[in-house]
Amino acid sequence: MIIGVLTGGGDSPGINATLRSIVRFGAKHDVDVVGFLEGWQGPMENLVQPMTIADVSGILHIGGTILGSSRTNPFNEPGGPEQVVESMKVNDIDCLIAIGGDDTMGVAHRLAEYGVKAIGIPQTIDNDIALTDYSLGFFSALEAITGALDRLHTTAASHHRLLILEVMGRDAGWLSLMGGVAGGADVILIPEEHFDVDLIYRKIKRRESLKKRFSIVIVAEGATPEGLGAQVVDEAEVDAFGHMRLGGVGQYIANQLSERMHMPVRVTNLAYLQRGGSPAPFDRVLATRFGAAAIEFALEGTFDVMTALHGVKIEAVPLGEALGMSRPVPDGLLYLVDLFE
Ligand code: F6P
Repeated sequence: MIIGVLTGGGDSPGINATLRSIVRFGAKHDVDVVGFLEGWQGPMENLVQPMTIADVSGILHIGGTILGSSRTNPFNEPGGPEQVVESMKVNDIDCLIAIGGDDTMGVAHRLAEYGVKAIGIPQTIDNDIALTDYSLGFFSALEAITGALDRLHTTAASHHRLLILEVMGRDAGWLSLMGGVAGGADVILIPEEHFDVDLIYRKIKRRESLKKRFSIVIVAEGATPEGLGAQVVDEAEVDAFGHMRLGGVGQYIANQLSERMHMPVRVTNLAYLQRGGSPAPFDRVLATRFGAAAIEFALEGTFDVMTALHGVKIEAVPLGEALGMSRPVPDGLLYLVDLFE
């Protein structure tokens, strides 16, 4: 069997560990692996790279992806899906593993209509893919956010400041909520609940009345200020999958608060620092298990599915089902936003 593999969308730590697992577990079962470069651009332009055990040696702990990534969407290009099909033929690919978020796996699912046999591996720091307990990369990003909050705390406390940390996550608040809890943020703002700047002000004032001379706010890039009624966007232009680039809500809050506060207000946007670096141990293990499970699914002929973590098991979930629903922070976890209020 020959399996193709590609990595699309935003990178996160743990992709290389997945590639290593696919190649090594594949080799154990006489499966050859071909890598497609730069996300879906690879199969569209037949950009390939052999993937032997030597090619994936020493990459377990390295962030990013040795295959490169892009936000290319074949369904946005004339003849795009047909070009992908052609690459599958030319390289004798029996099955294609697509590692990425809903956009990357969404293309894999749509290609089933063109006869492409694909398997998805959910990878995104946003953790916004349904029907899996966690996506690959989430816990590594969380580690970066927690570390950033620890560092911000010392400066906030030393200089008596209000520090705002903006984190990613698109329309889901997983990174902000879990990062905020792990890093002890005083105010946690997520897209699932519109926020009121006056309420933030009152929370900080209450802290001041308790002799707390600093505060830390964590805000998800997709959080919506009530006064604005829309997400704050960095670039209005949409990408090949129709997403606007979010960014700037931290500065929006600072602008609203700075004149009313007695302490200086500063913003840190963690940006790509939360997407890079070495994968956390949890992600290394998940990557290894997802990679091996994808090979198993391919060998047993289970296609158009995604590897999913359910408790301690890795199971196959139909791609159409997982991608057909969104995955915000569930109501059952929202109590964490105001746990100590
Ligand atoms: O989906 C991952 C993610 O990091 C989001 O959290 C963020 O909104 C987006 O990608 C940023 O995209 P880009 O890589 O194009 O800056």
